[in-house]
Amino acid sequence: MRITLGVTGGVAAYKAAELVRRLQQDNFTVQVVMTRSAREFITPLTFAALSGQKVITDLFSGAENGEANLESAIEHIAVAQRTDLLLVAPATADILAKFARGIADDFLTTLYLASTAPVIVAPAMNVNMWNHAATQENIRLLRDRGVTVVTPDEGYLACGMIGPGRLAGQEEILAAVRSVLHAHRDLQGETVLITAGPTCEDIDPVRYITNRSSGKMGYAVAEAAARRGAKVTLVSGPTALETPAGVTGIDVRTAAEMHAAVLARFAQSSIVIMAAAVADYRPAVSAGKKMKRGKEPIALQLESTTDILAEVARDKRGRLVVGFAAETDNVAENARKKLSAKNADLIVANDVTAEGAGFDVDTNIVTIFSRDGRDVALPKMTKAEVAQRILDEIVRVRAAQQKNAGELAEAFNAAIKESSH
Ligand code: CTP
Repeated sequence: MRITLGVTGGVAAYKAAELVRRLQQDNFTVQVVMTRSAREFITPLTFAALSGQKVITDLFSGAENGEANLESAIEHIAVAQRTDLLLVAPATADILAKFARGIADDFLTTLYLASTAPVIVAPAMNVNMWNHAATQENIRLLRDRGVTVVTPDEGYLACGMIGPGRLAGQEEILAAVRSVLHAHRDLQGETVLITAGPTCEDIDPVRYITNRSSGKMGYAVAEAAARRGAKVTLVSGPTALETPAGVTGIDVRTAAEMHAAVLARFAQSSIVIMAAAVADYRPAVSAGKKMKRGKEPIALQLESTTDILAEVARDKRGRLVVGFAAETDNVAENARKKLSAKNADLIVANDVTAEGAGFDVDTNIVTIFSRDGRDVALPKMTKAEVAQRILDEIVRVRAAQQKNAGELAEAFNAAIKESSH
């Protein structure tokens, strides 16, 4: 697993060097990011030598040569976004204020906003700075937002004062890392099959029917599920996207190929998420040769494709099946109909005509409908965040399913015992 360790400018910065070693002993790959003021206290070279990775110091410079370099900035963002956890130790009052307010004026603050990974901060500062209402308000804000705060220890501080402000001990920080990662790997042991993207149905060797799906939503779910510990297979129609790290990608083109790929993997999967925009119709005959232009109007005969979701969900035996519903009107009504018609456990519905939702944008506005009648209407958020919320719902429904199965088994065993008396 990959941890990005943000080091900010405090006397305790040297303790972060030891932390790198301890994290490595726990088999984490550590990517260090240093702020400008951290470099006044300790050199990037120390961290580069310890972590065996380039240290990221600036948003727009190469790691070593200091030249403005957009490519390296993009690369760094990509590397950092692959992180499973962002840990900032030591965290100064300044970085806490910037995180709390969403200021993004260097690499670390930009990463905080750009990443969807869990965040831990281990503050260290002068006791008065720690006790200041501004810092305490920022801490409260960050906690409310789900950031884990490893509170500083009390003791002698570098400034000569006594009180809270000393960076928490290594063991305490490591325990927070383990517990946060454990909580975020709630799909460990699950085998997740996801479909994404459009399908292409050939008219002749050069023409085809397709739709506007970019695949972004399904890919975001695949990436998030892999991060949360699942074994993920992504069956994708043609998209411009790269298969996320740790995900097995299977490329298909047509609805028929997607159907076959899903059928081949359905039995091994415990959770199936169908985010693909599968063609409902395909040309009844696909011409072997390019069709020639003529003067007369022509009609294209279409035949329906198999509803992959409805077919596999018919006999799902303990598997959790999630469908998507792309609607242009009557979203809730249509989604509820799909929930029962397709025998799905959850339907993620969106109005694809709403601004900030649907095709080819990075945001989405969805409502998650479930069999138990709970509707989760989410505001506009990034597809990465939507993916996390969908997985939260999956984990919730799965836990309820497993509890029911457990109770059923217990009742069954009790009945058997009873009848044998
Ligand atoms: N789906 C599928 N196979 C198809 C069509 C759709 O597996 N041939 C799945 C999609 O992946 C999605 C869900 O069914 O999870 C609903 O897709 P959508 O296009 O909204 O619904 P349709 O069933 O096609 O109904 P309609 O187009 O009439 O709204």
